[in-house]
Amino acid sequence: MAAFEGAGKVALITGGARGIGAATARRLAGAGARVVLADIDAGAGEALAAALGGSFVRCDVREPADSEAAVAAAVERFGGLDLAFLNAGVAHGGGLGDDFDLAAYRDAMGVNLDGVCFGVHAVLPALRARGGGDIIVTASMAALTPTPFAPVYGANKAAVVGLVRALGPAHAAEGIRVNALCPSFADTDILVPLKAQLEETGFPILDVGDVVEAFMAILDAAGTGDAWYAVPGRPPEPFRFRGVPGPR
Ligand SMILES: NC(=O)c1ccc[n+]([C@@H]2O[C@H](COP(=O)([O-])OP(=O)(O)OC[C@H]3O[C@@H](n4cnc5c(N)ncnc54)[C@H](O)[C@@H]3O)[C@@H](O)[C@H]2O)c1
Repeated sequence: MAAFEGAGKVALITGGARGIGAATARRLAGAGARVVLADIDAGAGEALAAALGGSFVRCDVREPADSEAAVAAAVERFGGLDLAFLNAGVAHGGGLGDDFDLAAYRDAMGVNLDGVCFGVHAVLPALRARGGGDIIVTASMAALTPTPFAPVYGANKAAVVGLVRALGPAHAAEGIRVNALCPSFADTDILVPLKAQLEETGFPILDVGDVVEAFMAILDAAGTGDAWYAVPGRPPEPFRFRGVPGPR
């Protein structure tokens, strides 16, 4: 396992203005990488990018053209792209029963699933031009365990893991690794509505730093098409899917 060498690497981070994306941007910049933060939150994103010597691009990941523009900005400013962290996400998708809300449903699927698909589509040519690179997508433990409290979130995060498992082997020959990061509950703004309830029940919450460690472990590993869990008290590892039965 080789430790990530950031010097000269260029990283695009969607949802990079806040939370997990911002903490990862700090870590990558600290390792010498050039970071490009792509987010709808221009205030926080511009301030962080300036502090890290990076760039900010206003990008709504629901819009394919915004992802294309973010990649173009990375290539123009820093000469190429080596790493894409497709991390922007929302948790407000709701359910399909009494709490069904079409606008919230479309928004959540647009950010958490379309945004990842459009992001992959936009970054592939730039990674190919460098002879390979990494795509890491933030899914969630909601992709690996049932989430009765958030079925739409569980659906779009599981879809992202399915996407990563398909893309990993598809792009291995060109040196492009595609993996998913699946954190348990982590202490960011997205968790605010659930945090008091989790604390009451004593459910452990990850520090954002633990999620960044899991991200770095994915970068330092060799595999592709894997979904790595990040769970309190355990080292991050690829989740082992059981073999599915084939025909006989
Ligand atoms: N915090 C957790 O408990 C947890 C657990 C598992 C997975 N995740 C996932 O981690 C990722 C990051 O979330 P976080 O915890 O850092 O939350 P956060 O709310 O702190 O950060 C989310 C970031 O995404 C940005 N964003 C939202 N909509 C966007 C859009 N349309 N286009 C571009 N950017 C957009 C926000 O502005 C923000 O900067 C998400 O995909 C989330 O689903 C979080």
